Amino acid sequence: MDQRFISQMESGFEHERGREAPPPDFPDLPLIPGGRYTDPKFLALEQRFLWQRSWLYACHLDQLPERGSYLLWNRTGSPIVLVRGADDQVRAFYNVCRHRGGPLVTEASGTLDSGFTCRYHGWSYDLEGRLRGLREERDFGDLDKSCLGLGAVRCERFGKWLFVNQDPDAPPLLDSMGPVAAHWRHVHPERLRHVESYGFDVPCQVKVMLEAFFEVYHLSSVHKATAGRFLDHRATRIVLWPDGHSLMVTPNRSRDWVDPGTVGMPSIPGLGRFSLENNLSYNLFPNLVTPIANTGLPFLTFWPTGPRTMRVDCHWFAPDWGDGERHPLWEQRIDNFNRILREDMELVTRIQESLESPGFQGVRLSYQERRIYHWHEELDRRIDPALMPQGLALEPLLAGFIDRAGAGDDATATHSRRQESICT
Ligand code: FES
Repeated sequence: MDQRFISQMESGFEHERGREAPPPDFPDLPLIPGGRYTDPKFLALEQRFLWQRSWLYACHLDQLPERGSYLLWNRTGSPIVLVRGADDQVRAFYNVCRHRGGPLVTEASGTLDSGFTCRYHGWSYDLEGRLRGLREERDFGDLDKSCLGLGAVRCERFGKWLFVNQDPDAPPLLDSMGPVAAHWRHVHPERLRHVESYGFDVPCQVKVMLEAFFEVYHLSSVHKATAGRFLDHRATRIVLWPDGHSLMVTPNRSRDWVDPGTVGMPSIPGLGRFSLENNLSYNLFPNLVTPIANTGLPFLTFWPTGPRTMRVDCHWFAPDWGDGERHPLWEQRIDNFNRILREDMELVTRIQESLESPGFQGVRLSYQERRIYHWHEELDRRIDPALMPQGLALEPLLAGFIDRAGAGDDATATHSRRQESICT
């Protein structure tokens, strides 16, 4: 990790621990209106402008191990199939046949011999999504097969992590990641292996759960017996980056503390002392949270499944463990992590009840909870202001507190834009 960044962070822990108030120029953050969590019109805008237009983590390349491997992914309401082509490239398509909308695949994952065959009337497509054959073509008149390929979804890779974006005009993934890309390079994402994926359905609006991962203020109460014991939350440093991304660095209470559940596990080469002594928790806007540790990391992804329900997926990655089974400590490590996660899940369910109570006036945020306001400001930048329900827009206040110098080289890399299709 960049030494200048490390020094910058470390030099501020003591100040954070000892300060008696927010910086004098920090604004009082207004209440986040409760309607942003409950108003059907607002949630519909969120679906349209956020979930359908953002780069979203889908899966790891290990989950598509060979040519023809596919995975059916449905986290935004439109089933999408990711498939590894004959050229080893992973592509994403809507799981929708161009005839009458039949599904191309119905299993969660599998391997295709040479392409897709629709379950309804048997139209066939190759792994690159081109329509290859249809029965009784004579009855379709003057059909141009070259224009009836599967509907493509943007799919790009960072290391072995695959992201999708339903917005055909979105900037490339790497540009969208901003400074996060430069930071994540240090974990060698092209070498990390997929350990395990699983998830939990939680009865609360997605933002309620997500926001619990943007602050450590709740550690001393909700996680008093777990994470709160070893993290010094009062010394936490926060970095707000452009486009809604952010980082929270919380030092361990003791410099010598090492997670006993990880002792002996292989470490990510090059990750040093800083990520051993501190908890580094990133948010890649909008919904990916990852606390990076030397022995591996989870991607937590948060998804709306309804106005009052959500799902959190956990994907674990580790440095290469060679041949054979993963390290035996993984089971215990994941169990320990899930214990902390359950502490959050239990509480947020109760918060959902409060959101719809006449006693709820809005979300009140302190200085150390400013990542939440930062996230909401970005959400408002995405939503067409002309459509915003009255009284639910936030006043943008944090522009002066965003670290714009933190952009790494990755952020300025140039990338070829997708090829425009001539078909309609
Ligand atoms: Fe796919 Fe008819 S809907 S072949």
